[in-house]
Amino acid sequence: MKKFWVLAGILVIAMCALTPRSGAQQKERKDAAGHEWFNHAVFYEIYPRSFADSNGDGVGDLKGITSKLDYLQHLGVDAIWITPCFPSPQVDFGYDVSDYEAIDPMYGTLDDFDELVAKAKTHNIKIILDFVPNHTSDQHKWFLESKSSKTNPKRDWYIWRDGKPNGQPPNNWTSTFGGSTWTLDPTTGQYYYHYFYAQQPDLNWRNPEVRKAMLDCMRFWYKRGVAGFRLDAVDTLFEDPDLKDNPLLPGLDKFGFPNEHEIYNKKLPEVHDVMRDMRKLADEYNAVLIGETWTANVSELRDYYGEKNDELQMPMDLMLTQFPKLSAPLFREHITALEDAGGWPVFVISNHDIVRSYTRWGDGKNDDQIAKLAATMYMLLRGTPIMYYGEEIGMENNDPKRKEDVQDPQGRRGWPKEIGRDGERTPMQWNDRPNAGFTTGKPWLPVAPNYKTHNVATESKNPDSILNLYRKIIGLRGSEPALREGKYIALNGDDANVLAFARQDIRGSSVIVVLNMSDSPQSVKLEMSKVAAPSARATTLVAVGAKSSAEVMGTISLEPYGVYVAKVDSRLR
Ligand code: NOJ
Repeated sequence: MKKFWVLAGILVIAMCALTPRSGAQQKERKDAAGHEWFNHAVFYEIYPRSFADSNGDGVGDLKGITSKLDYLQHLGVDAIWITPCFPSPQVDFGYDVSDYEAIDPMYGTLDDFDELVAKAKTHNIKIILDFVPNHTSDQHKWFLESKSSKTNPKRDWYIWRDGKPNGQPPNNWTSTFGGSTWTLDPTTGQYYYHYFYAQQPDLNWRNPEVRKAMLDCMRFWYKRGVAGFRLDAVDTLFEDPDLKDNPLLPGLDKFGFPNEHEIYNKKLPEVHDVMRDMRKLADEYNAVLIGETWTANVSELRDYYGEKNDELQMPMDLMLTQFPKLSAPLFREHITALEDAGGWPVFVISNHDIVRSYTRWGDGKNDDQIAKLAATMYMLLRGTPIMYYGEEIGMENNDPKRKEDVQDPQGRRGWPKEIGRDGERTPMQWNDRPNAGFTTGKPWLPVAPNYKTHNVATESKNPDSILNLYRKIIGLRGSEPALREGKYIALNGDDANVLAFARQDIRGSSVIVVLNMSDSPQSVKLEMSKVAAPSARATTLVAVGAKSSAEVMGTISLEPYGVYVAKVDSRLR
C-alpha cells in the first residue's frame, strides 16, 4: 500500500511538471511590477567555437562551457545564450542547421548538453539556445528531400520558382551575404531562394507543415530544460508571394551589387503571426524569446513586443551597436525614445556579427576607461543587458590582415571591403599563457593581441580591472532596489559631454549615474532637485576617474570618460 502512495505521488509530481501552465500560474511568476525573471537577469552570449575547448581540437565545446560555470556565476550572469551548437556543415558557423534536434559532435553530445543544463541549474544559470527559423542548411534532410523532385512532399517546404524566360533568376533580390538570393538547382531546373548563403535555403513559413515542424523542434528543447530561445533573423521569415522586384537605391553594396530597399522580402506583417505562435508555446514553458531584431528606430522595435505584448518579451535593441562613438546627446536621445515608447528595453553593445565595443568605441588612449563607462551605462539603465563573451575583460577585435586567413565566407567573398566577422569571434582570453588558456591545441582563430594583459586570471587579481568593475556593477543591480524597477530620470539634459541619469525607486531611494562621454575633463553640478531634497546626502558606489564632495549637490569632477555612481536618499522633504 505504501508503495502505491509513493508511486501515485511521483505520478502527480511528474504530471505537474509536464502540464503546460495555466494563465493563473503564469501570472504568479510575475512580481508586483508585472515583471518576470528575465527582466532582472543579466544575459551572456557565448559563441561556443570560441569560449573554452575541453578536448584540445582548437574549437570550443559544451564541456568547455560547463567547466566555466563557476566563473559565470561569480561574474553575476543569470542566463547564457549559446549560439547554434546543432549539427551543421558550419558554412555559416552553425547558422546553417542540418538537424534541429541534436548537438554537433564538434561540441559534444546530447548527454553533454543535459549535463550543462543540470550543472547550470545548480549555479542558478539558465540556458538559452539559438533558434534559426528562417533557413536550414542545404544538407538538412528536409531540403535534400525538397530538392529531389518537383513532386516531393517536402517541395513546398522551401521557396522554389522558375527562372525568367531568359533563364535569369525570378527577381532582382540580392542576398545580404552577396549576389542573387536565387540559386538554380540543376536536378529540377528551378531556382530556390536564400536570403543568406546559397547553403542556407529559406523555409516556406506559409506552409503549415513547416510551422508545425519548427514549433515541434522548439518544444523538443523546452522539454530538455531550455529556458528560452534567441530567434535568428526573424525579419526575413516571409517574402512577397508575387516576388515583386525590390526598388533599387543608389550605389552598390559591399559585394558590388545594387543597393535595394528590401520592402518585398523583409519585415512582412506575417512575421508577427509566427512570433505570436512561438510566444504561445514559450508561455507553456515559462520561457523567454529574444529577437534578433534589427530596426531603424525605436518605433519599429516596439512592434516586436506585439500589440498585446503577445510576441517577443525581449526584442534586442541593436541600435546602440551602430553608434560609431560615444556621444552624450546621441545616447540621451536614444534612451529617451526608448523610455517614451514603453516596454522593457534589452541592451546589446556587442555580438558575434559586430565589431567589439572595446574596439568600436575605444579611442586608442582611454580604451579601458571607455569599456568601464560602457559597462556602467548599459548595466544600470532600465532594462535587461545581454553581454558578449569577453566584453567583461575588454577583449578587442583581432581582424584578419590577409584574405587567405579569413574563415568567415562573407569576408572571403567581400574582401577587402567586407572583411567578415572573424575579428569579433576570437578565443576567450582566460589567462596569459599560450592561446590565452582557451585550448591546448591550435585555436581555430588567432587570439587577440591584448590577451597578455586582458584576461580573466590577470584581471581577477586587479581590483581596478574592467572585470572587477563588471562584477561590482552587476552586483549593484541585485543590491539596489532603484536599479531593479526604478524609473529613469534624465539629469542635465543639455550637457553636450556628460550623460547623467537617475534611477528612482518608488520607496524613495535613487541611484545616480554620471558618465563623461568626452575625452576632456568635465565638472558637473547635477539637477538634483529632480530627485532629492536639498539636504539629501549621497553615498558613492563607484567612482572611476571621478571625484565628488560628500554632498551630491556639490560638483562632480570627471576625468576623460570618468564614471560616477552614487546612492541618494531621494525623499523630497
Ligand atoms: C544572424 C546571425 O547572428 C549571423 O551570425 C548569421 O550569419 C545570420 N543571422 C544568418 O543566420
